[in-house]
Amino acid sequence: MNKNIKIKSYKIPPDFLKHSNINLKQYKTLYRQSIKKPGHFWATQAKKFISWFSPWKKISTGSLKKLNMRWFVGGKLNACYNCVDRHLETRTNQIAIIWQGDNPNDSKTITYGELYDKICRFANVLKDHGIKKGDRVCIYLPMIPEIIISMLACARIGAIHSVVFGGFSPESLKTRILDAECRLVITADESIRGGKYIPLKKNVDIAIKKCPKVHKVIVVKRTGNPITMHRKRDIWYHEAMMGVDAKCPPKKMDANDPLFILYTSGSTGNPKGVLHTIAGYMVYVTMSFKYIFDFHDGDIYWCTADLGWITGHSYLLYGPLANGGTTLLFEGVPNYPNFSRYWEIIDKYKVNIFYTAPTAIRALRHEGDKWVNKTSRKSLKLLGTVGEPINPDVWEWYYNVVGNAKCPIVDTWWQTETGGILISPLPGATPLKPGSAAWPFFGIVPEIVNDKGKVIKNNNPGRLVIKQSWPGFMKTIYGDRKRFVDTYFKEVPGRYLTGDGAYRDKDGYIWITGREDDVIKVSGHRIGTGEIESALLTVQQVSEAAVVAIPHEVKGQAIFAYVVTKSGAKSDALKKRLNAQVHRVIGPIANLEYVQFVKALPKTRSGKIMRRILRKIASSEFDDLGDTSTLADPSVVDTLIAERKKVSNEAKGRRQ
Ligand code: WT7
Repeated sequence: MNKNIKIKSYKIPPDFLKHSNINLKQYKTLYRQSIKKPGHFWATQAKKFISWFSPWKKISTGSLKKLNMRWFVGGKLNACYNCVDRHLETRTNQIAIIWQGDNPNDSKTITYGELYDKICRFANVLKDHGIKKGDRVCIYLPMIPEIIISMLACARIGAIHSVVFGGFSPESLKTRILDAECRLVITADESIRGGKYIPLKKNVDIAIKKCPKVHKVIVVKRTGNPITMHRKRDIWYHEAMMGVDAKCPPKKMDANDPLFILYTSGSTGNPKGVLHTIAGYMVYVTMSFKYIFDFHDGDIYWCTADLGWITGHSYLLYGPLANGGTTLLFEGVPNYPNFSRYWEIIDKYKVNIFYTAPTAIRALRHEGDKWVNKTSRKSLKLLGTVGEPINPDVWEWYYNVVGNAKCPIVDTWWQTETGGILISPLPGATPLKPGSAAWPFFGIVPEIVNDKGKVIKNNNPGRLVIKQSWPGFMKTIYGDRKRFVDTYFKEVPGRYLTGDGAYRDKDGYIWITGREDDVIKVSGHRIGTGEIESALLTVQQVSEAAVVAIPHEVKGQAIFAYVVTKSGAKSDALKKRLNAQVHRVIGPIANLEYVQFVKALPKTRSGKIMRRILRKIASSEFDDLGDTSTLADPSVVDTLIAERKKVSNEAKGRRQ
């Protein structure tokens, strides 16, 4: 984002101020307290937002320097109890989940009373199949109520859930099941998205051929199409739920026991199993949900993220339900049956708070205002975005066309690792600047530092780090403490290294410029370039591959792969084969937008690929390639430029 572009700032819509939970003065006072006396601040929040079986003995221990931070030490609680049981007295008949199927005629609602009953039963099913505290359970389900029931049933008995996004391939599923040593998998016969059927059970069958620890697969019947059931291993969810005991007391868990593992991509190697623990996570997401989304009793809240990502975990399930809210679960996609789908759902259920990703907003904006204008969206009071930077003009479209210029937008910056939102406007407190995630949330101290870790002046871009520990932060990478320390704490000791670039303007607004490492964001999905390269190298003809991101109008970023083949083979058929292989190994979210066959890659004398140069050449920015003096063979660059020009000229020729 160019900081020289003049950005208009937006006052908080006056109607909004009348009911908002926090105003500017309160934000400033509370923020100061949260930084100066974090212990006192979080103790107050933890009492207010969470129900404890027994209180903590120490509010926090350790530090980001020693890497032994623990929150609410000695406290006992249960996440499922906090999301469901404690609401029963006042909310038994209140709707907890509104489920909207892919087909507009397919929907249902589940009250807190019903949800409680289903979770208890399913928790007993899990126990009957040998799952106990600390066991890992893999959940590979579509966006149907059973995914929430499964996650909360795990939490209830102290099992650790590891949800894998239903768009991942059998190969990716296998890697995740093996890494977490899951003992049981919960899946469905098929999922349906945009009218298309995806064979989830078949994917599981392939994945677990090489997962000896998985002894049971529980299958939800979603479409009813025929599938293969393995007699000893597979059981139907609906059959298991019949006749099972409906009572299941929540397990008293320790504050720092794990709640879940969620895999996410890093610069190198296999995806990392980010491990979150119960108390810190629950306090942080429950409280941040209430303030950032300005949640009030009776609100209808919709987060469009899949439960396979952290946004789904924190702000579709745990945050909204812990606050006793009504959360909407949507199985489908924004463009099916037509481009009005999101806005129609908002009208149908009178959604007040809507949280989505910039990529969806860009795609829908691209189709024209008429799809939005057909609907009323009168119920909306607040809009949110997450996942990647949002350009100011897209922000303005969201604000004016979708929100009718009366809903503040919260541009929320956070990560799988952070558990909850760290930087965001507070809707009743923060004047909005389109494209900026604005100010830090309570307890968060962001800093912008240079390569040497020194804090730099306002308006200068640098690396975004977080200075002080906060309750929602991950505990470790499952099974790999060293990787946890090396990835996040080695380069800038005593700070959490986020991997993002950012700058802060004179008003203290933080502008995120995007990832600075080898992680890319395609349609908001986080993908490691290393994973794609490994997938490419499994194709026999490939001898070397380097993947970079290039800007894309709708997806934000797209994948550009440079491939060196043995004997110089190159053809469109080979391109197709490479893409098919990447889909097979990772999943269709990792789509190769461009493949360029090249003779050689630019490397330093020590053999490191210079991605900076590859990024520039991919985006056809040939003039300013920066320092190329460390290249082992500088002539490689000229060849690469010539090859790139040739391909783009050919593409232009085809378009004309
Ligand atoms: C990365 C984390 C946590 C929610 C979903 C993504 C990018 C996230 C924003 C934002 C600019 C953003 C960052 C971050 N990101 N939100 N509001 N503005 N960039 O979680 O998959 O762990 O990805 O998403 O690059 O590091 P994730």
